[in-house]
Amino acid sequence: MNSQTLREARKYEEASAKRIHSDDRPSFHLSTRVGWMNDPNGFSHYNGKYHMFYQYYPYDCHWGPMHWGHAVSEDLLHWEYLPAALAPDEFYDMDGCFSGSAVSLPDGRQLLMYTGVVKERHQNGGIHEVQTQCLAVGDGVDYEKYEKNPVLDESDLPKGSSRFDFRDPKIWQKEDGTYCCVVGNRPADGSGQILLYTSPDGFQWSFKSVLASNNSRFGKMWECPDFFLLDGKWVLLTSPQDMLPRGFEYHNGNGTLCLIGEFDEEAGTFCDQHNQAIDYGIDFYAPQTVLTPDGRRVMIGWMQNWDTCGQRTTDVLWFGQMSLPRELSVRNGRLYQNPIRELETFRSNKAAYRNVTFSDTMELENIRGRRVDIELTIRPGDADNLYHKFALRFAQNDKFQTSLSFRPRESILKVDRKHSGSRRAIIHQRRSKVNSENGELKLRVIMDRFSVEVFVNGGEQVMSAVLYTDQSADGISFYADGTVNMDVVKYDLIV
Ligand code: FRU
Repeated sequence: MNSQTLREARKYEEASAKRIHSDDRPSFHLSTRVGWMNDPNGFSHYNGKYHMFYQYYPYDCHWGPMHWGHAVSEDLLHWEYLPAALAPDEFYDMDGCFSGSAVSLPDGRQLLMYTGVVKERHQNGGIHEVQTQCLAVGDGVDYEKYEKNPVLDESDLPKGSSRFDFRDPKIWQKEDGTYCCVVGNRPADGSGQILLYTSPDGFQWSFKSVLASNNSRFGKMWECPDFFLLDGKWVLLTSPQDMLPRGFEYHNGNGTLCLIGEFDEEAGTFCDQHNQAIDYGIDFYAPQTVLTPDGRRVMIGWMQNWDTCGQRTTDVLWFGQMSLPRELSVRNGRLYQNPIRELETFRSNKAAYRNVTFSDTMELENIRGRRVDIELTIRPGDADNLYHKFALRFAQNDKFQTSLSFRPRESILKVDRKHSGSRRAIIHQRRSKVNSENGELKLRVIMDRFSVEVFVNGGEQVMSAVLYTDQSADGISFYADGTVNMDVVKYDLIV
């Protein structure tokens, strides 16, 4: 039986989502049905469809008591909304159903595992949120919370670990049919750790080990872990809070972290050998992955960040969108990401130019638009004089523009949306060090009305940013300080 809280949310979202015109949303990125969206949750393939749930507050474009929104897709690009799946309506989750994941059960039902949040009031007036792990079982539309919730609480924590920061279970089934999950937690040193739990059936859980410890190396608390084997290596994805920058690799605030290493399955410990940011742009956080039926590891992140939420405007009824689904691989010890190949099916109106040499501002016929896929190769146009700067400007008219600029001498790629129409004093630029030899660089730039995602050097790095520029600003231009030679192919994306 659905609770009144869930029934109300379902009624509300159905009525109010009708007030959002499809042209006023991203076309192939999943956006919130209405109101607020943050983390992807329960990203899974169940009964022939991909399911994506998300942190959801339908009633306002601000974070509020967390529900789980729900959508399904056959190709990860066309999404259909389903009614909200979870609402904060039980004594163990009355202050929020926080992030979690999903898995199929042998009997054909789907199991959701999420964090239940309850505010605890202290005598001194302070409030702390106690976090436990809970389950719900369903048929892909309706979910029943498990009568023995919570299934993991403070008694399942290692000594000294915080019961206030214990969240975001990511569950998977092993080949032998048993289950594992990883959960983010804060140990006594105040930084982050990832805990590993095991279960014979998905319902009875027990603590196995501390999978990985932060020791304050990368930010503090580690949120939203994901853990999987990819190309012979184990990969731990997590989103640390309170990061400090290290050169160009990480930036202040909420960041993303990919650790690649070895997993001792017996002991339940992970040893990292390589670290990198997952996304080097402005808006990306809390990614989650799914294994597709054909064996691809595909990741989707929240294309927003806690430090950049101030972009909201009062006249829009939705806030929050997901990133493109990205196919992951480990190559040369690094994480590579590329847009899922299905996107290529929706390319049309090709415009291609080879060997264009320019040394000023230039526009090219038929290259414009806000839903486009652009492949660019740039190189010096004059072998004796390395150019100073290359820039791609887009979402452009006489008032607005967002730019992607590259300075080959420093090997720095910068995204800058300060002139995108934002009226807020939040971060609008980010610079990333990229690999380039002799001023050569390969970029794939994907735009979908309110965002840009830049895949650098065949997926070696990605930079994501949202931009809420009016759609009439659809100009694209190229700029060179010095002489640049370029190949460019543009497609419209009609999804
Ligand atoms: C990450 C996060 C999670 C939490 C959720 C709450 O963005 O803080 O740790 O479960 O958002 O909405």
